[in-house]
Amino acid sequence: MALFPGVALIVGSASGIGQQTAVSFANEGCHRIALLDRSAEGLTRTAALIAALPLSTKAETFTQVVDVLEEASIIAAITAIVKLWGRIDYAVNSAGVTGNNQASTDTATHAFDTINGINYRGTWLCSREELKVMLNQTPLPTHDGRPGNRGSVVNVSSQLALVGRPRASAYCASKSAVIGMTRVDAIDYSVHNIRVNCVCPGIVDTPMTQGPGQAERLKPVISIAPLNRLGTPQEIADAIIFLSSSKASFMQGAAMVVDGGYTIN
Ligand SMILES: NC(=O)c1ccc[n+]([C@@H]2O[C@H](COP(=O)([O-])OP(=O)(O)OC[C@H]3O[C@@H](n4cnc5c(N)ncnc54)[C@H](O)[C@@H]3O)[C@@H](O)[C@H]2O)c1
Repeated sequence: MALFPGVALIVGSASGIGQQTAVSFANEGCHRIALLDRSAEGLTRTAALIAALPLSTKAETFTQVVDVLEEASIIAAITAIVKLWGRIDYAVNSAGVTGNNQASTDTATHAFDTINGINYRGTWLCSREELKVMLNQTPLPTHDGRPGNRGSVVNVSSQLALVGRPRASAYCASKSAVIGMTRVDAIDYSVHNIRVNCVCPGIVDTPMTQGPGQAERLKPVISIAPLNRLGTPQEIADAIIFLSSSKASFMQGAAMVVDGGYTIN
């Protein structure tokens, strides 16, 4: 039996971790993959990557531009996915922005609002709409016949939800909020047979950590992790794929840390 017989939805799939997660769902045999992001260009690239996979001839993609700051755009996209495929089984919320690199007293309210509006409120809006869909569907068969779930939500938090870093109060708080929300949703929706987990990536080689001067600036931060290197988007996607799959049927409310050991040091 296939590991992913249902419909995957990845919000923030135009780039980085979300893009690699979308490609990984296709590689793992998922045949219906919805891609949402604010970047139309990036969504086209992700859909093209999936179309180019040797095993993906049967993977259909649905793309729609959304802004997770806008409730109406999320509701419209989720409604369109349900109209097309009838369900959402594996939802991944990866849309996010980096911090403003300023201490609290230097942080403008609009910067705080943007970071928290996308990373926390946007994740909450997406997961709320995904959960509503999952409440109205029955479980699919699983890879080995164990009882299945009505759905799985994986939110993308950060290692900076668990530890602090200078000049990152708005970002750290936005990501800690994602863990808190994940835990409570896991409690509330267990009775409905829906699993909700999150991943806490360390520093990962994506456009978020690239750009002029970033490699030098990040060197001392990367060296906090005993593995002393950047993670790859694939290494985070692998954890998300596991949490989304029926192999993770006893994982509930977890904040899975994938950080090269950053938070143990
Ligand atoms: N790269 C890292 O080191 C790292 C570490 C820890 C956590 N994370 C988290 O992982 C997630 C993915 O980040 P990434 O590294 O892949 O970065 P990325 O910049 O490559 O991807 C982020 C994606 O989110 C989309 N996005 C941003 N704001 C949006 C909005 N308002 N509406 C819709 N889409 C929006 C972007 O267009 C982009 O495609 C983020 O939540 C980030 O905070 C990243």
